[in-house]
This record gives sequence, structure tokens and C-alpha cells, in this order.
Amino acid sequence: MKNFISAHDVKDIDSLVKSALAYKANPLKDKELGAHKRIGMLFLNPSMRTRLSTQIAAQNLGADAIVFNVDKEGWALEFEEEAIMSGNKVEHVKDAAPIMGNYFDILCIRTFPSLKNKEEDYSELYINQFVKYSGIPVVSLESSTLHPLQSLTDIITITEVLGAGEAARASGPSTGSAPAGRRPKIVLTWAPHVKALPQAVANSFSQWVNAWGQAGRQIDFVITHPEDYELDPQFTQGATITHNQNEALEDADFVYVKNWSTFTDYGKIYCNDPEWMLTQDKLKQTNNAKVMHCLPVRRNVELSDEILDSPSSIVTQEASNRVWAAQAVLADLLKR
Ligand code: CP
Repeated sequence: MKNFISAHDVKDIDSLVKSALAYKANPLKDKELGAHKRIGMLFLNPSMRTRLSTQIAAQNLGADAIVFNVDKEGWALEFEEEAIMSGNKVEHVKDAAPIMGNYFDILCIRTFPSLKNKEEDYSELYINQFVKYSGIPVVSLESSTLHPLQSLTDIITITEVLGAGEAARASGPSTGSAPAGRRPKIVLTWAPHVKALPQAVANSFSQWVNAWGQAGRQIDFVITHPEDYELDPQFTQGATITHNQNEALEDADFVYVKNWSTFTDYGKIYCNDPEWMLTQDKLKQTNNAKVMHCLPVRRNVELSDEILDSPSSIVTQEASNRVWAAQAVLADLLKR
């Protein structure tokens, strides 16, 4: 792996998942790997889980992680080539990135989309300019269109739950979320929200689950959303897509809940029907599905208290696994 920006950067997802789970079992097993290495973490947007889990992961590997909240503490960066910098932007990424490349061994960056200009957001200019000019491996801490550390974590968590189900089945009756003799059904469902949110988590989850399936993992992947909320087909191709949430939820083993704004007529909220919020009643048609969400979550808007506070929810396990995803990725890059 040269950079970690999308599922396409990973040769073998299952092997990365295995590495992450090995770190979960023994967090300090490579505590010397990052000795004398520095990891720069640039935030152009807020974060809790990504920031803390990546810092912990770096610490477990013996590396120094230095956080720089560029949006609040840094010079305003210009990313456009040949820009005439007579406005508010103070420093060009062409000048800043090579310096960071000399300060750090790995550069991690979080940057959100504007949701105003689809072509600009989907060109991933910000992260690509850091790849072009820093000269060191770049890790996405969420970009305009993708959130690969979250998606790797999601696959780690699904693998873990399926593994626990297999172990439970070997010693007794089925406990749900552990299908015997059939492909696990993974459903991504749109949920209502009060704000227009990026498509990054949904794009990324779709990209990773599809890549996992293409790599031979037997899964049934269904995406459900209201009309007008189609995602970019480059990420969803391979999944079954339906506007009927009930049909999608039938016999589901995992339900991933997430809001996103419109992709076609970019960055808008069209329908915001509260009926799309997942409830315990809707979960009854699933195979005792485990419910996932990347967090932060708007309670009783995106997901009900009754689900989040029930054993169906695995959001805490999922968010806790962020450490092991980050550790597996950083370790892979540090070994190169
Ligand atoms: N899921 C996630 O990326 O959380 P943060 O925005 O808190 O990092």
C-alpha cells in the first residue's frame, strides 16, 4: 500500500482485517515499529473518533502523532494550480505539503466536501494535492467522497460479529447475525437528518463492501434509499438498489444506517421523511440484524433511542474498532 485513500489502495481486504484483529488481541505487539517515526494529522474539519483512534493507534506502534487543526490554527491553504493568490488564501499546498513531507513519515488528512460543486468535490483536489506534493504516504481521515478508515472498521466489525456467530452456532442454536449456510445480507439504508451531509460514508461503505464481495467474500449487499438519493454508481455498482426499505430489510443480518444528501442534484435535501428512521418494529423483519452507524448520530432523527440503547446496536463496538483499523493501516505503511 502506497497511500490509504480508497478500497483500491488495498490488495487484500481480508488480510488487512486479520492484521487489525491481531492488533485488537495484542495492541502492543509492534510497539517498536514506529520508533522515531512521526505521523502528521491535519484536520480541516472536526472529528472525535478519527482523531483519537488514529492517535492511539500511532502510540500503540511507538510513533509520534502530531495533530494540526489547519482550519483553526493554520494559514488558509490554496489548492488550485496557477491560482493568483490575491484573496483570503495565504499559502499554497505546493509550498506547504513538501515541508510536511520533510517533517513527517506519514501524512493523514481530513477534509470535507463543500457540497456546492460536485465536480470539484468529486475530483478530490485537496487530498490529491497532498499526495502530489508531500512525497510521503497519505492516509485519508475522510475526504470529500470517501471515508476508508471508517469502512475498513465496518468490515472488521462485520467480520468479528460473523465470527462470533459461527462460534456460537458451533456450540448451540443460532443467535442471529450468523447465518448458517447462506450469504450474510448487509443493508445500507438512508436515514433522515436535519442537515445536508456528505455522501462520503455511504460511498465508501458501498465501495468497500463491493470490493470485499469481488474479492470472493460471499455477501448479499442491498442499498435502500428514497427516490432522488441515488449515490454515484462508481461506488454502488454490484449492489442491489431499492426504494423499498421494508423489502431491503427482510432477512438482513446487518443494517448500516446513514444519511446522505442528494448526489444527482448535488448536496440537497429532498424528501426527509421521518418514516425512513429505523425502528425496533422495522427490525422485526430482519434476521435479528445488528445495527451499525459511523457516529456521530442524531438520536430519534436518524436512529431511535430504542435501537441505539438495545443489544441490536453495535455502534460502540464499531467505533472502538477504529483504533485497530488505523493501527493496521499505519503499520502497513510503516513497514514499507
Ligand atoms: N465516524 C467518524 O469519522 O467520527 P468522527 O467524525 O468523530 O471522527
